[in-house]
Amino acid sequence: MLENLQATTTLHNGVKMPWLGLGVFKVEDGEEVISSVKSAIKNGYKSIDTAAIYRNEEGVGQAIKESGIARDELFVTSKLWNGDQGYQSTIKAFETSLNKLGLDYLDLYLIHWPAPAVGNYKESWKAMEELYKQGKIRAIGVSNFKEHHLEDLISDADIKPMVNQVEFHPNFAQKDLHNFCKQQGIQLEAWSPLKQGQLLDDQTLIKLAEKYGKSTAQIIIRWVLQKEVIVIPKSTKEHRIIANADVFDFELTAEDIKVIDGLDTNQRAFADPDEMNKV
Ligand SMILES: NC(=O)c1ccc[n+]([C@@H]2O[C@H](COP(=O)([O-])OP(=O)(O)OC[C@H]3O[C@@H](n4cnc5c(N)ncnc54)[C@H](OP(=O)(O)O)[C@@H]3O)[C@@H](O)[C@H]2O)c1
Repeated sequence: MLENLQATTTLHNGVKMPWLGLGVFKVEDGEEVISSVKSAIKNGYKSIDTAAIYRNEEGVGQAIKESGIARDELFVTSKLWNGDQGYQSTIKAFETSLNKLGLDYLDLYLIHWPAPAVGNYKESWKAMEELYKQGKIRAIGVSNFKEHHLEDLISDADIKPMVNQVEFHPNFAQKDLHNFCKQQGIQLEAWSPLKQGQLLDDQTLIKLAEKYGKSTAQIIIRWVLQKEVIVIPKSTKEHRIIANADVFDFELTAEDIKVIDGLDTNQRAFADPDEMNKV
C-alpha cells in the first residue's frame, strides 16, 4: 500500500488520491509558491493542496504549467471559502478557482469549513454535486466537518463526501470522527500534521526519531500514514519538501504507534469548526 510517493488510496467513487501531498497554506503567491510547488513536483509529489482563501491559486497554476507535468499525473485540491457558500456563489467561486489555477477540472474540491453561522453548506453541496456530475471535479468533499455536520449534510445529499480534511496530529487524532468517517467510507485527510512545527521538539517524538534514524517530522508523517490518513505537510524549503516525503523506507512498530497515540490530549490547537464563521 505504501511503497512510495506515488502510492494512492481509492476514494469511494473509485478515484485514486495520493497518500502524501504538499500543502501551501501561508505560502505567498508568486515566487514562493511557484518554487515550492515546482520543487515538490520535481521531487515526485503528485498532489497539491491549496484553497481560494490562501490566495495563491494563480502561483500554483503557474508552477504546474512550468513544471511540464501531464495534467492527469497530478492531483489538485482547492477549497470553497465560507463567504462563497450558497448554490450560485459556489458555482462562481469554483469557476474562479479553476481560472486562477489555469485548469479545466479539479481533482478534489472541498467545502473549507461548515461555518454554521453562514448556514449554507447544504446549498454549496448541491452545487458541488452538480459540478461533479458535469465532470468538472473528480471528487468532492468537505473540510473541518465534525460528525454532526457530516450527519446533517449526508441526510440531504445525493453523494456522500469522499474526503474530510481536518486538524490531525499526534496531539489531536480525532479518534471518534476517524471511526465515523471509516464507517461512512469517507477518507480522512490530515491538515497541520506537524501542528505547524509545534510538535517538532516533543521529547517522545525526538526519541523515536533517534531510534529509527529519521527526523521528528518524518516520524509524525509516517504515523499519520500508518493511521491510513492522507497527509499534506507544508514546506517552502526544498530540502524539507524532499525529507517530508522520504517516509516510505521504514515502518513504525505497533508499539511505537501506541506510544505516539499516547500524546493525544484531545485538544485542538486551531479553530473549532462550530465557531469558525469568518467570511
Ligand atoms: N482545511 C483547513 O482548514 C486547513 C487548515 C490548515 C492547513 N491546511 C492544509 O494542510 C497543510 C499543512 O498544514 P500547515 O501548513 O498548517 O502545517 P504543517 O504542515 O503541520 O507545518 C508546516 C510548518 O512546519 C514547517 N516544516 C515543514 N516541514 C518541516 C521539517 N521537515 N522540519 C522542520 N520544520 C518543518 C514549515 O516551515 P517551512 O515552510 O519553513 O519549512 C511550516 O512552518 C496546509 O499547508 C494546507 O494545505 C488546511
